[in-house]
Amino acid sequence: MSAVKYSDLGLVNTREMFKKAMEGKYAVPAYNFNNMEQIQAIIIACTESKSPLILQVSSGARKYANQTLLRFMAMGAVQMMKDMGGNIPVALHLDHGDSVDLCKSCIDTGFSSVMIDASHHSFKENIEISKQVVEYAHARDVTVEAELGVLAGIEDEVSSEVTHYTKPAEVEEFVAKTGVDSLAISIGTSHGAYKFKLKPGESVPPLRFDILEEVEKRIPGFPIVLHGASSVVKEYVDMINKYGGKMENTAGVPEDQLRKAARSAVCKINIDSDGRLAMTAMIRKVFAEKPGEFDPRKYLGPAREELVKMMKYKNENVLGSAGRA
Ligand code: G3H
Ligand code: 13P
Ligand code: ZN
Repeated sequence: MSAVKYSDLGLVNTREMFKKAMEGKYAVPAYNFNNMEQIQAIIIACTESKSPLILQVSSGARKYANQTLLRFMAMGAVQMMKDMGGNIPVALHLDHGDSVDLCKSCIDTGFSSVMIDASHHSFKENIEISKQVVEYAHARDVTVEAELGVLAGIEDEVSSEVTHYTKPAEVEEFVAKTGVDSLAISIGTSHGAYKFKLKPGESVPPLRFDILEEVEKRIPGFPIVLHGASSVVKEYVDMINKYGGKMENTAGVPEDQLRKAARSAVCKINIDSDGRLAMTAMIRKVFAEKPGEFDPRKYLGPAREELVKMMKYKNENVLGSAGRA
């Protein structure tokens, strides 16, 4: 099978997006999708708020929805954006690629950007693996994100109980030896909907901006990525609990900290869990209020609308990407 070129699908890589985000002091949203309603919501929200966009596909998403179908959905999403009169740059990105082969396969099937996540390996192995991906990707003008440091929580099938903060002393060598285009760092965010468990009166501990600043000093102007950046929106958690769900004592990354990060060298902010919460909250509400409803469009529709609302809010008020496309 011959390789599919991402530019033929109307997609772009992240190079220009990150250059503009760095200059403009905002972050590009990277929203994960697994199904039609999610990708529709992402496209509507980013087109209406005129925000550049990174569509993310995890290994879990590939298994759930089929890699080929996801790629065609991304292609359809670009066309939908144009039909809406939009003109925003859209990248299709592999989230947490765990092997060189997986990254290559995504590059060959139309992805414009890949993440090689070898952060669980030794520093030396991480360099070796990331470098192999860069060689293959750059020959095809695909951009590469790698990671230094380990976030707590679940990253696809790999999970870590504890955070291993990025060591700023390692970033220059890593970036120089691998040639990656962006670097995900660990400064206290974590994956999933259970980031912080607070006792009464406690507030979320601040992210380690000291590490971020040290990284910025060592690799000035280099695009940084923040994973695990959902705020675990309280109104959605409350709604889920109100309508029969059970999500206990949880908190995410406060919006003001994300705003601060977006003004720095952080050029890409990953959000998945907040979208899951928004959809679940709305679906539960419909089920509770209209128990006779059985048409999926009647509950997935409101869930999609809520997602649009949430993403537009984030683009405008948290990432600062609205109006930048
Ligand atoms: O980093 C994790 C993302 O939220 C993707 O999650 O592997 O459940 O699709 P997933
Ligand atoms: P959240 O779980 O905080 O949404 O993080 C998503 C993410 O980092 C995807 O790579
Ligand atoms: Zn992640």
